[in-house]
Amino acid sequence: MKKRLTLAVLAMMAMAALYFSSCKEKKAETTSTSSADSLQKMVARGEYLANHVTVCIDCHSIRDTGHFSMPIVPGTEGGGAAFAFGKGEFVPGEVTPPNITPAALKDWSDEELLRAITRGINKKGDTIFPIMPYHSYSKMDKSDILAIVAYIRSLKPVEHTTPARKLDVPMSMFGPLPDGNLDQNKMPDPADKVAYGAYLTRSAACADCHTPMGPKGPDFSKVFSGGTVFDNPVFKVAVANITPDTATGIGAWTEEMFVNKFKTNASEAMLQTRPGRQNTFMPWSMYGNMKEDDLKAIYAFLRTVKPVTNKVEKFPK
Ligand code: HEC
Ligand code: HEC
Repeated sequence: MKKRLTLAVLAMMAMAALYFSSCKEKKAETTSTSSADSLQKMVARGEYLANHVTVCIDCHSIRDTGHFSMPIVPGTEGGGAAFAFGKGEFVPGEVTPPNITPAALKDWSDEELLRAITRGINKKGDTIFPIMPYHSYSKMDKSDILAIVAYIRSLKPVEHTTPARKLDVPMSMFGPLPDGNLDQNKMPDPADKVAYGAYLTRSAACADCHTPMGPKGPDFSKVFSGGTVFDNPVFKVAVANITPDTATGIGAWTEEMFVNKFKTNASEAMLQTRPGRQNTFMPWSMYGNMKEDDLKAIYAFLRTVKPVTNKVEKFPK
């Protein structure tokens, strides 16, 4: 009941905003059907983003580590992970993505969720470890974040508790982010492919994995050129170079090749394979179901980044 109420309020706010910005003369259509419609649209947008763009559900669920790209174990969506990020992922300690279904978050207000997602501060006021890409989410359109909030509130409650984090360094070394103004963030017009592609690439935090690690952390002068090796008990894989460098990046890839790579790698046949130690961290099963136009926009944006020569061996010994 409480959940329904909050969602209804959100939907009404969204409708009200739309109404006041569009026309002052016309009467608002406040029939229950149109408000249910707009809520449904909002949850659908949130579901799309959380599963295929910002991939919240990828981290915050149990993954099937035996199969290609570690797809989600059905029924565990948002209920928290079964394994911790640790040394293999450059975390000084162990951090497990917690349960974000209503079973865990029912007492969080929308403001608290918004703050967690865009500033990295949880309900207790603690900083969330920045492996969760809230620095990227902080640049998203507020309506997209509200859609994600509406969607995670609609998830089936999963009863599952994850271990508390253990860090070898003080958390004060990291975040949280300062209080920004989400209202300033605007989603670019999808017709502007490069700008919209940049928005999606940031929202999907592609650079978090695809930026090489220098001695002092990520080397943004070589952003998207890959090379970082993830080495953990399940697999050992190096991140690919996705800059437009022809010899060592994806400079020779056509738009069609790029889109097909995502579609093929998210196909049932691929997800059924068991690659053993040659598995990958790249969440193909999630990103692979991105809309084709969105993948094309990401491709268009990636064509504009600086080509960097960096030969990467995908499966180092
Ligand atoms: C790369 C993995 C990753 C992604 C992607 C990710 N998260 Fe997280 N998230 C985490 C981890 C790990 C923590 C816990 C960090 C800690 O304990 O310091 C966390 C914490 C949270 C919390 C705080 C929960 C609590 O009980 O304190 C919320 C809420 C949350 N995430 C929501 C989201 C949403 C919504 C998205 C997508 C927009 C998302 N996360 C994407 C890894 C991720
Ligand atoms: C969690 C880490 C991670 C994230 C996030 C990530 N990638 Fe990857 N990506 C990898 C790894 C590891 C590989 C190499 C292994 C493989 O091909 O699966 C890879 C490979 C690729 C390849 C294949 C390149 C080749 O030469 O075969 C493309 C294209 C790609 N990523 C694009 C993206 C885009 C676009 C995004 C954001 C939407 C993204 N990646 C986000 C880890 C990641």
